[in-house]
Amino acid sequence: MEIQEILSQMTLEEKASLLSGLDFWHTKPVERLGVGSVMVSDGPHGLRKQAEGGDHLGVQESIRAVCFPAACASAASFDRDLLRQIGDCLGVACQHERVAVNLGPAVNIKRSPLCGRNFEYFSEDPCLTAELSTSLIRGIQGRNIGVSVKHFAANSQEHRRMSSDARVDERTLREIYLPAFESAVKNGGAWTVMCSYNRVNGEFASQNRELLTRLLREEWGFDGYVMSDWGAVSDRVKAVHAGLDLEMPASGGSNDRRVVEAVRAGLLNEKDVDLAVERILTVHRRYWDHARPDTPWDMEAQHALARALAADCMVLLKNEDGVLPLDEADTVAVIGKFARSPRYQGGGSSHVNSFRVESLMDALSGLSTVRYAQGYDVESETPDEALIAEAVEAARACSRAVIVAGLPDAFESEGYDRSHMRMPRCQNELIERVAAVNPNVIVVLYNGSPVEMPWLGRVKAVIEAYLGGQAVGGATRDVLYGRVNPSGRLPESFPHRLEDNPSYLSYGGEGDVAVYNEGIFVGYRYYDKKKMDVCFPFGHGLSYTTFAYDNLRLSSPDIRESDTLTVSVDVTNTGRVAGKEVVQLYVGDVESSVFRPVRELKGFEKILLQPGERRTVSFELGKRAFAFWDVQLHDWRVESGAFRIEIGRSSRDIALSAEVHVEGAPPAPCRRTVNSIFMDLMRSEENRAILQPMLKQMASGLGGASDSEEGAISSQMMEAMLQYMPLRGLVSFSGGQISYEQLEALARQLK
Ligand code: BGC
Repeated sequence: MEIQEILSQMTLEEKASLLSGLDFWHTKPVERLGVGSVMVSDGPHGLRKQAEGGDHLGVQESIRAVCFPAACASAASFDRDLLRQIGDCLGVACQHERVAVNLGPAVNIKRSPLCGRNFEYFSEDPCLTAELSTSLIRGIQGRNIGVSVKHFAANSQEHRRMSSDARVDERTLREIYLPAFESAVKNGGAWTVMCSYNRVNGEFASQNRELLTRLLREEWGFDGYVMSDWGAVSDRVKAVHAGLDLEMPASGGSNDRRVVEAVRAGLLNEKDVDLAVERILTVHRRYWDHARPDTPWDMEAQHALARALAADCMVLLKNEDGVLPLDEADTVAVIGKFARSPRYQGGGSSHVNSFRVESLMDALSGLSTVRYAQGYDVESETPDEALIAEAVEAARACSRAVIVAGLPDAFESEGYDRSHMRMPRCQNELIERVAAVNPNVIVVLYNGSPVEMPWLGRVKAVIEAYLGGQAVGGATRDVLYGRVNPSGRLPESFPHRLEDNPSYLSYGGEGDVAVYNEGIFVGYRYYDKKKMDVCFPFGHGLSYTTFAYDNLRLSSPDIRESDTLTVSVDVTNTGRVAGKEVVQLYVGDVESSVFRPVRELKGFEKILLQPGERRTVSFELGKRAFAFWDVQLHDWRVESGAFRIEIGRSSRDIALSAEVHVEGAPPAPCRRTVNSIFMDLMRSEENRAILQPMLKQMASGLGGASDSEEGAISSQMMEAMLQYMPLRGLVSFSGGQISYEQLEALARQLK
């Protein structure tokens, strides 16, 4: 039956029943009309399908599945295709398991290193988040499984997540917190969106019509359905009207009844209910039409892929004296509990029941040059002298010491935030003590967000492996021993200390009010503007080879905002091994009437180069690469002028740069009044011709001394002061030369 026909045959009660879940993971059927129930499941880096009646906090087991690198790690790949591959694997698993919608990706911006859910989010940068998450979406939906892009919107903290009100100004929302959702809809064709728990500028996201209807549907053209985060609905009737189609999980029928009553009482238009049902059924029809439960799910093959992908996500932060890669002949002390039981995923709704976990020690089994010491306990922060002594002893006996450290589970999770950026004391102490006896210490970090590294100056190498999924041990081995040349780049800045972070003064909020005071200056946008030293900058990552950049060229030195600028650069592998380079393109506005970051990532490409190989990498830049969100126009605007195009190895290591002149659309004419100031008025040539003589007269009336005369105010000072004088100053300070009535006529005449 056509959806419209089904709809026309449904009772109001049946329609309302479809607007909330049957249980934790299913939608309701309407059997008499052949409407089936569908299953939805987490999550973004591995299928977490729970048995019927399961909880949603990861307490109860889910079916065995493959755990891929979490978004903190996969984002570090800077590799669209890698994300697409993970998406494809998730799509296969969902098809096999009859799951219609995969609840991810989670695309919230990392505003602070403290957010408990950073491990599930991609980056502090909107361009990187948008590009990578959209690739993941394409991978999943390529298998005809829906995604649920979450958590819409401004869910950048876990603290009081169900009640907190994110107060974010319009420009910051548009430039930082919304682009990944926008791209998911416009470029990814997302089937569903999941609203967040929090309020956004005073209204719960679940009943925020501005977000769910005006922006998502009317402006971006979203044609799927919006579901609530689990338990995010406050006022169901208001939520239906706002555009929240499906409430999850079940509400025991009580909200369905409220919807029916509201329609009967004339408080809710039945059309709103019909629309929600239509959207839900349309998306589910897409799934039913392409359901393929006979799709084979080869977990072994996916495990092998998970290992290869995890290696491509690892970021080599430091490698002094080329201590890495290791040689199989080197004697190596492998230290740390995480080398035996890796931390490879985060806690909460994304927790996967991995069918296998491969540790570094598993991957090193059979290598006689390696010996293991536990070094620390994960249950306690207190240094354990016996474990440290054993580790020191092992390190003394070997030429290299690899310490696998990071954050234990309890340090970061969905549901609460961190309160500091430190690693457990026992691990920091261990690293110091081992470094005191072995000059070749290599630290491998398994963590979901940045940590302070007080020992950084005393170790030779650091690999940030993030939470690399169930095959992280094999991947760590591959990178340590040079089977894989590391190519990850930091998708976030690592500040020296938490206090350096731009959100530090207001993160978490006061009570339920969280004001995003730093505005658009999130992450490197802030550190660069303040010229602050960071521990490791956004985009940073080393390789076992080296790359040279040259021959930066622009398709034109001058463009209009409607044109596309092509930027090309040649990259050469100047080392002795093959490697992947991440070519990063940043744009900066040379002069602007609004506050703008020094540079913003507007393009990136990951390329594989053999030793000596040279390749041209090209980027296309359109209007959005140069625009800011104009709060007067409520639209994107390019201000005419020069823009810097920078090609960098990181946000702090710019290899080449050039300038392009972009001609923006002329600013919309604005009405001049008697309160307009001279500085603004004198921008127009026509205005200058009219006003210059009047200004002169006013300056002399006010007693500005000529350059040769001595006086309290020189003519130069006077000129500077008069910039801020409103037009009405002509009445007050020109000795009656002009009346107020003449002034109003003059204002109307000015551009
Ligand atoms: C989380 C969502 C998740 C949902 C279902 C919520 O607590 O915030 O990300 O998809 O539970 O497990």
